[in-house]
Amino acid sequence: MNYKDDIIEQIYNILDGKIEKENIIVEKPKDRKMADYAIPCFSFSKILRKSPIVIAEELKDKIEGYEKVEVVNGYLNIFLKKKDTIKEIVKDIIEKKDSYGNKKTKNKNIVIEYSSPNIAKPFGVGHLRSTVIGEALKNISIKNGYNVITINYLGDYGTQFGKLIYAYLQWGNKDAMKENPIDELRRVYVKFHEEAEKNPSLDEEGRKWFKRLEDNDEYSLKLWTQFKEASLKEFEKTYNLLGINNFDSYTGEAYYKDKMQPVIDELEAKNLLEISEGATIVRLDDNIVPALIKRSDGGSLYVTRDLAAVFDRKNNYKFDKALYVVGNEQTLHFEQLKKIVEKMGYDFYNDICHINFGLVLQNGKKMSTRQGRSVKLHDVLVETIDLAYKYIDEKNPTLDNKDEIAQIVGVGAVIFNDLKNYRCNDIEFNIEDILRFEGNTGPYIQYTYARIMSLLEHKKNIKLDYEKLVINEYEWNIIFKLYEFNDAIEAAYENFDPSIIAKLLLDIAQDFNKMYANVKIISDDANNTEFVLSICEATSIIIKEGMRLLGIKVINKM
Ligand code: ARG
Repeated sequence: MNYKDDIIEQIYNILDGKIEKENIIVEKPKDRKMADYAIPCFSFSKILRKSPIVIAEELKDKIEGYEKVEVVNGYLNIFLKKKDTIKEIVKDIIEKKDSYGNKKTKNKNIVIEYSSPNIAKPFGVGHLRSTVIGEALKNISIKNGYNVITINYLGDYGTQFGKLIYAYLQWGNKDAMKENPIDELRRVYVKFHEEAEKNPSLDEEGRKWFKRLEDNDEYSLKLWTQFKEASLKEFEKTYNLLGINNFDSYTGEAYYKDKMQPVIDELEAKNLLEISEGATIVRLDDNIVPALIKRSDGGSLYVTRDLAAVFDRKNNYKFDKALYVVGNEQTLHFEQLKKIVEKMGYDFYNDICHINFGLVLQNGKKMSTRQGRSVKLHDVLVETIDLAYKYIDEKNPTLDNKDEIAQIVGVGAVIFNDLKNYRCNDIEFNIEDILRFEGNTGPYIQYTYARIMSLLEHKKNIKLDYEKLVINEYEWNIIFKLYEFNDAIEAAYENFDPSIIAKLLLDIAQDFNKMYANVKIISDDANNTEFVLSICEATSIIIKEGMRLLGIKVINKM
């Protein structure tokens, strides 16, 4: 049963439908001693021509099915029937298990583009955020009943690949390329730029090779494919550690190289193109910088490929929404993309959503190597897993499968740290902090889960006699939080914000640990023991499912 909906429905009926349902606001007071739900009646006054207090009094007498209803300063305060509510929620969770909180199918398609690393470059911490936020949004969207299509839009095109081919042919080492392709490609690419400083004619060489690539010259394509495959193989190691590797499409930028012309033609036909300093642009509204569609040398641009891609996605997937999980620094790019689609006369521009996010910082500064380069995500994950291993070994040296557990804890710590705050904010990465077993961390939640699992070994699955139970505030608090999982799932989708779930899980773990510290879980009273263990079981189900939505595993022992 949905208590909020029930309250709204009842109020709507009592007031003869004079107040629209969306204007009946049901608040959840922070202090549950005040009420479980509170409905402000002020806004009803105007329409009903009565004071809020009179209205609240009338509602109070007529609302049915609750423990207690009070009127306080124009608020209607409602208290749930504790035993009935607990019985219902616990039973519901234990019955439904991981399907608890699943929403009705929406029959709508959501395309989520995320991760999208650039080939021949290291998979850096910058792409970590896109990858984990995107993965969580995928899980959350499915939980909300949407059909999801995931796309990894690889950065595999652009003039830099001409330079790279030239540089590899000049200075590349085959063995090094086999050993460690990304490092080798990085090395020759850096060398290209050093040499080009001294000898600008190299840029011309780079352009020539890029032109060959554009014209599908076989040899250039072969090298490019080799770079791409080697990169994907490297990326796979990182994806495997993260437990993410099931994109529906890996169609990158290069796929669109021959699909841009029709879009350019359409822009032309709609009189949207202008020549400016030799380049072709689309002028947008006054407050957005014009978008560059074609370079003066005829070369295509990032936004041109994205335009081709968005039409392709619309055609292929008939999306109701297309999400692009990409950092804050590309905000202008996506504004331009949307605006161009709007100017072309397509309403679906409204369904293009840039899901932006902040930077990964270390000690308040953009995370980078000592040489100022991007830090490899793989290295960060390995380092975190190693430290997790050390901590686990200190705490519990006789544990089985320490390697596997350390991986789950280490990776979980990194992902949770990324998702626990609103995505638009920057995140701070401190390996010791994210691994703390006490604190706002992934390991804290995993640890709580493992604690519950060991308690559950005592559960006998006897039939509960609810009448005999005396419910304390710790139990009541946690049950209500578990129930909030339903709202959190919806809110996380509506705001495209996984942190809503992460924060709820932290609250649940905290409330659970408070209960654990204050309530004797296993006592001589078999009925009460069974009851508290049922709460434990329900808690474990919500934690596990919530963590799954975030892309994090739990473990029974740690
Ligand atoms: N590969 C790009 C980068 O690393 C991100 C791609 C963003 N997606 C897009 N459709 N433009 O910066």
